[in-house]
Amino acid sequence: MGKQWRIALMAGAVAAVLAGGVACTQGDGVDDSARAQGDTAADNAAAQVDTTGANADVQGESAAPGASAEEGGPVNSLRQTASSLFGVIPDPPTEVSGRPVTPERVELGRMLFFEPRLSRSHVITCNTCHSIGTGGADNVPASVGHGWQRGPRNSPTVFNAVFNAAQFWDGRAADLAEQAGGPVQASVEMNSTPELVVETLSSIPQYVELFREAFPESGGITFDDVTVALEAFETTLVTPDAAFDRWVEGDDSAMTATEVEGLQLFFETGCASCHNGVNFGGQTYFPFGVLERPGAEILPEGDKGRFEVTATATDEYVFRASPLRNVALTAPYFHSGQVWSLEEAVAIMGTSQLGREISDDEAGKIAAFLRTLTGRQPEVVYPILPPSTTDTPAPER
Ligand code: HEC
Ligand code: HEC
Repeated sequence: MGKQWRIALMAGAVAAVLAGGVACTQGDGVDDSARAQGDTAADNAAAQVDTTGANADVQGESAAPGASAEEGGPVNSLRQTASSLFGVIPDPPTEVSGRPVTPERVELGRMLFFEPRLSRSHVITCNTCHSIGTGGADNVPASVGHGWQRGPRNSPTVFNAVFNAAQFWDGRAADLAEQAGGPVQASVEMNSTPELVVETLSSIPQYVELFREAFPESGGITFDDVTVALEAFETTLVTPDAAFDRWVEGDDSAMTATEVEGLQLFFETGCASCHNGVNFGGQTYFPFGVLERPGAEILPEGDKGRFEVTATATDEYVFRASPLRNVALTAPYFHSGQVWSLEEAVAIMGTSQLGREISDDEAGKIAAFLRTLTGRQPEVVYPILPPSTTDTPAPER
C-alpha cells in the first residue's frame, strides 16, 4: 500500500512536470471546485498509478527540467517548470461559481468579516481566527471560539483561499460562500443561527440599506447573501508579488541561491507531487502518513479527516495537501497545529509522505524557499460598524 502510493505520487509529479501546462494552474480552483470536491484519495491514486514514472525520473526532471526544449540553462528551465506547475498569484477573480464580485459586495463583506454581532456572544469575528494582520490565521494550535471553547483543528489562512479547489482541511465546503455559513453556526466558533444573524442585521437600518445595494434582487437580508458578501470580500485577500513570483517572472535577484536550491529540492524530494497549483496545495487530498503515520500528538486518532466527508475507508486520515502560500506566517503547522518550526514540518513531511529522511541542511533550504512564498499582505481598512438598535437581539453567553 505504502509503496503503491509512493509510485503513484512520483508518477503524478513526472506527468505534471512533463505536461507543461498542468491542470492546477491559477484560477482553476474556482471553476473546478465541484470536481475536486468529489475526488477521493482513492480516485487520486487510481488516476496517478497508471502513469509510468519513478523517483529517478523526478530527480532527473528537476535537475534539468525540460532541458532539451529549453534555452538559457538550468535556472531558466527550473523557472519554466515552476511557472507551469505553480504560477504566480493572479488578479482576484471577478466572480466565483457564477456569483459576481461587485464593489458593493466586497465593501459589505469587509464589514461582516469584522462584525462581532455575527456571533451569539457579539465578541467573535471572522478576524478573531483569521486575523488579517497575522497572515489570515490565528497562530494558535486550535482556534478559540464561543465560550473559550477550542475547536479540533488549526485555522488555515483565508489569504488566497479563493484559489483552493475546495475549503477546509477535509475539503467539505465546495467554495467560500458555502464555507462562510459554517463558522457562523458552529457551536465552538460563533454559535449563531442563520435566523439570528438575519434578525440581528435586519434590526440595523444601515445594514438593510447596504444589503439592498449589494443584492438588489433579494428583497430583504438573507443568510445566503451574508455568505456571498463574505466570499466577495475574501476574494480580495490575495497576496501577489512574493519573492518566488517575482523570480518566476524573471527577476533573478528576487531569490537567493539557497532559496533556489530549496525550490529544486522541493521538486527532487517529491513535495511538488502533492503541493502544486498556484497555492502550492489546496487542490487534492492525501493520507497524512502515506508511508509512515505521524504520532498521535501530530495526527490525533479522533480526527479522521476526509473520511467524515466521504465515509470511504480509504479516506481515513486523508487531508487536503495544505496550501503553502504565506506558510512562514501561519505557524503552528498541520491540522492539529502541533508543530511550530517550519523546518520540522518539512522533515515530518519527508518521513510521513515520502519515506525519506530529510537532512537538517535540506530542511533548512526547503524552508528558506517556502519563506519566499510570503506575498504582499492585503491592507484592509478597519470598518466603522453601524450601531445596534433597540430591536437588535442582545448578546448571549
Ligand atoms: C473560532 C475560530 C474561527 C472563526 C470565528 C472563524 N473561523 Fe474560519 N476556520 C477556523 C478553523 C479552525 C478552520 C478549519 C476547520 C476545518 O478544516 O475543519 C477554518 C476554515 C476557514 C476557511 C477555509 C480555508 C481553507 O483553506 O480551507 C475559510 C475560508 C474560513 N475559515 C473563513 C471564515 C469566515 C469568513 C469566518 C467568519 C464568518 C470564519 N472563518 C470564522 C476557525 C474559525
Ligand atoms: C503525499 C502528498 C504529500 C507530499 C509528498 C508532501 N506533502 Fe506536505 N502536506 C500534505 C498533506 C495531506 C498535508 C496536510 C497534513 C495535515 O493533515 O495536517 C501537508 C501539510 C504540509 C505542511 C503544513 C502546512 C500548514 O499550513 O500546516 C507543510 C509545511 C508541508 N506539507 C510541506 C511539504 C514539503 C516541504 C514536502 C516535501 C518534503 C511535502 N509537504 C510533501 C501532503 C503532502
